Amino acid sequence: MKKWYSIRMRSSKGGSHENGGQHISGAERLVKQTEIETTALEMIHRASNHTRGKADFISLKIETVQPNEIHYISPLRVKEVTNSHPHTAKKVISEQLATLPIQQELLFSLYDWVIHDEMTRGAIIVDINNGKRLDPSINRGIRVSHVDWDNQFKDRWQIKNDIFYNERRAEAIALSSKVAAAGTICEICCSDDPEYTTGYLSYQNTFIRVPNMKEKYSPRGGRVFIIDSTNIQLDQYIHFLEKTPVLIGVKE
Ligand code: COA
Repeated sequence: MKKWYSIRMRSSKGGSHENGGQHISGAERLVKQTEIETTALEMIHRASNHTRGKADFISLKIETVQPNEIHYISPLRVKEVTNSHPHTAKKVISEQLATLPIQQELLFSLYDWVIHDEMTRGAIIVDINNGKRLDPSINRGIRVSHVDWDNQFKDRWQIKNDIFYNERRAEAIALSSKVAAAGTICEICCSDDPEYTTGYLSYQNTFIRVPNMKEKYSPRGGRVFIIDSTNIQLDQYIHFLEKTPVLIGVKE
C-alpha cells in the first residue's frame, strides 16, 4: 500500500511561534507522494499572502503516515442560515440549537467567548453539564490536526452537494467533521480573520453556516467544543483530535 504524507505549514510575523511571533496562517494536507511538491508550493504561497500580514517565518513539515493509521469518516451535511447582523446572531444560534440540552445563559456566554477570543491558539473544550472548561492549558486550547479530504471523494461530494465551494469552506467542513466524529455534541466557531465574519455551528451531523457572526474587521475569533464529560474519555478524545490521521471519504 502506498504511503501517505502529512504536510503542515504555519507562518508568523516577528519571529517564529516559539519565539513569540504573531501567528499569520496555518494549513495542512494529507497527500500521496506525487502531490508533495505541488502541495508544499501552494502552502508557501498561502503563507506569504494573508490578510493578517506578511510572514517572516514559515515552518513546513512533511511526515510519513502509514495507510493503516488513517481513519475514514463522512463529511457533515451543510446548511446555511440567514443572519443579517451580529446583533441577531444569538437569536439565530439559539434557534438552530433549540434541541441542545444546554442552559441559554451558558450558550450565550460561549458565543460571546468565541467572537471575542484573542488569546487561545486552538479550541476550548466545555462540559455541557456545568460549563466547566476541560482542556488543560489556558492559552493553548486544543488544535485539531491531521485531517484532509480524499481528493476524489471531494470532487464527487462537491458535484452532489451543488453548493458554492471554496478551499476555505472545504477545510472548515473537514475539520469540523473530524471534531464531530470524535464525539463532540456541538461546535461553535468564528474565525479571527478580520475580513471573514461568517462563523459556523456543528450540531446533529450538520455544519450550519452563520453569516455575520461577528463585526467586520474584528481580529478576534475562537472555537468551542461542547462535550458530555460523563460520556467521553478526555485523553482519548484530545488524542484523536490532535494526532489521529483522518480522511474525509471512503477507504478504497
Ligand atoms: N494558531 C496559532 N498558533 C499556532 C497555530 C494556530 N493555528 N498552529 C500552530 N501554532 C503555533 C503554536 O505556538 C504552537 O505551539 P503550541 O503547540 O504550544 O500551541 C506552535 O506553533 C507549534 O505547533 P505545532 O502543532 O507543532 O505546529 P505544526 O507545524 O504541526 O502545524 C498546523 C500545525 C499549523 C498545520 C495546524 O495547527 C493548523 O493551524 N492547521 C490549520 C487548521 C486549523 O486552523 N486548525 C485549528 C483548529 S482548532
